[in-house]
Amino acid sequence: MTLLVTGGAGFIGSNFVLDWFKTSSEPIVNLDALTYAGNLANLAALQGDARHSFVKGDIGDRALVDQLLATHQPRAVVHFAAESHVDRSIHGPGAFMRTNVDGTFTLLEAARAYWGGLAGEAKAGFRFHHVSTDEVYGSLKPNEPAFTEAHPYEPNSPYSASKAASDHLVRAWHHTYGLPVVTTNCSNNYGPYHFPEKLIPLMIVNALAGKPLPVYGDGQQIRDWLYVSDHCSGIRAVLAGGRLGETYNIGGWNEQANIDIVNTVCALLDELRPDPAGPYARLITYVTDRPGHDRRYAIDARKIERELGWRPAETFESGIRKTVQWYLAHADWVASVQSGAYRDWVSQHYG
Ligand code: NAD
Ligand code: DAU
Repeated sequence: MTLLVTGGAGFIGSNFVLDWFKTSSEPIVNLDALTYAGNLANLAALQGDARHSFVKGDIGDRALVDQLLATHQPRAVVHFAAESHVDRSIHGPGAFMRTNVDGTFTLLEAARAYWGGLAGEAKAGFRFHHVSTDEVYGSLKPNEPAFTEAHPYEPNSPYSASKAASDHLVRAWHHTYGLPVVTTNCSNNYGPYHFPEKLIPLMIVNALAGKPLPVYGDGQQIRDWLYVSDHCSGIRAVLAGGRLGETYNIGGWNEQANIDIVNTVCALLDELRPDPAGPYARLITYVTDRPGHDRRYAIDARKIERELGWRPAETFESGIRKTVQWYLAHADWVASVQSGAYRDWVSQHYG
């Protein structure tokens, strides 16, 4: 028994791999192209651990994927690999089409060929688990009910359009070819190893460096935040018991406006690492809004709870405190990330 995980050196993928080995000895083959967002330091704890094999490579490399499937005979593919940052997708959508659409297509075709060659229990038990996002559903008005799995697809950014396209491919490969797929659509994650281009880690590292905290537009956009290990437990639940061809929304029942998130991060830093220059909130700076910025996301996570008994274990209060503490204790990780391409991106984007 083996899992083939794609994108397992990124934020959620690395948390998934680390969490997996806390409760399972089943090996993982981890295929990751190590783009700017992939960081092997996230997996340092697994150095020398025979259960984990890392392979640097692209999900769009059909020959490589075929070879990994043939060699390791996984019982499932858990597909995280993606370009994941909305702002980057606005500046340069090409990479999002290549990885999220073409890459997923290649992976599906390789999985279909591999699964087609299996027999008996191995064939019946095989799973292709596609990790997707709530952004495929578009933006909610203030009083609209949260996204259920039946909500129409209305993606608004190049990123969410590319993820929506990949979801459609996964659905079609099940419907047409019978490939045993499950898809999860999750809300905004936060926690350890989150690349500091995304809201929460960016606010923490900028505040600690005394830099402005850039809040887009009026800061009243709403996201539904979930601690990353809860996303990982949701994926494990769906991989183990999700019904074939079904989609499951995963969310934290925790809608908050961006400005409230930023103020919470500032208050925690004031408590845990006070700045002699004054409260961190003094650094909040309203900047030009993201083009096409979605106003509100909210996940209705009742289906996964009803069918699989999954609920988040972490509250936002406990999760955000752990997260801020993690960044304070891992200044070396932040420094190594910032010494790479990240720096160029920050200056290109924020000037
Ligand atoms: P991330 O950007 O931190 O990591 C992506 C990983 O994929 C990186 O390790 C990168 O090197 C790898 N990768 C990129 N292109 C690749 C390619 N062509 N071949 C192989 N590897 C490649 O992303 P994340 O935040 O960890 O998100 C993981 C998945 O979860 C994505 O599919 C994303 O759409 C989805 N998701 C993310 C969130 C969130 O809040 N971050 C929420 C819901 C769903
Ligand atoms: O909803 C799930 C999605 O959440 C995932 O599919 C994406 O991969 C992930 O990146 C995330 O997308 P968002 O665009 O919601 O996340 P981000 O951290 O980039 O932004 C969160 C909110 O904060 C959003 O409303 C934009 C705002 N923001 C972001 C940054 C980086 C700011 O106000 N200032 C900033 O500097």
